[in-house]
Amino acid sequence: MKNKIEEIKQQLADIKVDSKEQLEEFRLKFLSKNGSIQSLFADFKNVVKEEKPQMGQLMNVLKKDAQALFDKLKSEIKSSDSQEEEKLDLSMPVNSEKPGSRHPISLVRNEIVDIFERIGFVISEGPEVEDDFHVFSALNFPPEHPARDMQDTFFIEKDPDVVLRTHTSSVQVRVMENTTPPIRTISPGRVFRNEAISARAHCIFHQVEGLYVDKNVSFADLKQTLMYFAKEMFGEETKIRLRPSYFPFTEPSAEMDVSCNICGGKGCNVCKYTGWLEILGCGMVDPNVLTQCGIDSEEYTGFAFGMGVERIAMLKYQVKDLRLFFENDLRFLDQFQGAIW
Ligand code: PHE
Repeated sequence: MKNKIEEIKQQLADIKVDSKEQLEEFRLKFLSKNGSIQSLFADFKNVVKEEKPQMGQLMNVLKKDAQALFDKLKSEIKSSDSQEEEKLDLSMPVNSEKPGSRHPISLVRNEIVDIFERIGFVISEGPEVEDDFHVFSALNFPPEHPARDMQDTFFIEKDPDVVLRTHTSSVQVRVMENTTPPIRTISPGRVFRNEAISARAHCIFHQVEGLYVDKNVSFADLKQTLMYFAKEMFGEETKIRLRPSYFPFTEPSAEMDVSCNICGGKGCNVCKYTGWLEILGCGMVDPNVLTQCGIDSEEYTGFAFGMGVERIAMLKYQVKDLRLFFENDLRFLDQFQGAIW
């Protein structure tokens, strides 16, 4: 018995424990129910009577020492674990998944808005579900105008009509109703038209429309403002041209082309060899519209313009199919990482 005790003592003195696993081995070997120390106690009954007091004492000391050693090793392993944690540098850059980036339509919308904000236009927003007055009537659309047709407009309710707005001019009606001029506002937003989806058209798209109402606003102001926009958006060399057009709410009305930013006006397949790209509609606000919105058309004049964000984005990024903007294919969206925020 004495020899066994000595042997275990020696084993305890030689033991090396560096990990949680080894600590567990230690516990199993010495301290568990089937461990070597417990088996000494099982053998105790075989010890001769005279030796019992001495052996009992040695065994108790051995058991206590083994337990103390176990506790010491356990706390050492715990503290080296937490040192390991301290070695982690939480400020290290993480090899993470790619961060998200802005959608190209948002990038272009922000850029357009930015350009106009620099010359004093402020953003106005309004509802996507609108009444007939704000989308059509206030804007001089006669009752039989084709844009009001079921084929162009999504109706939510009939009589009185509630529709999904077909342009953000409706927001400008709301601004005119609630503001005394001068008004300089830009209305970005989502619009809806009942069109067949193709590479060039979608039933949902985005617009930025602008409105300027003050005393003595002239067509020259409109032209200069749009020229400034074209140069900021497409580069200093960009030229513009205005072609007569028609909108119910502007008189006179025009469509604006910019010189093709791909071939510089020489002619290429993007501009269909014309050297020009159509980008927006514009005109002087019809006095009737001002009156409908509670603005004195004798005292004030104004200009308005409106453009499709997808159209500008297609030109800017050379995207040939508008549907790509709506599919959210990461292989497409990834290409705009790092573009203007
Ligand atoms: N609202 C017109 C459209 O949706 C654009 C436009 C706005 C034209 C302002 C002229 C003046 O097509």
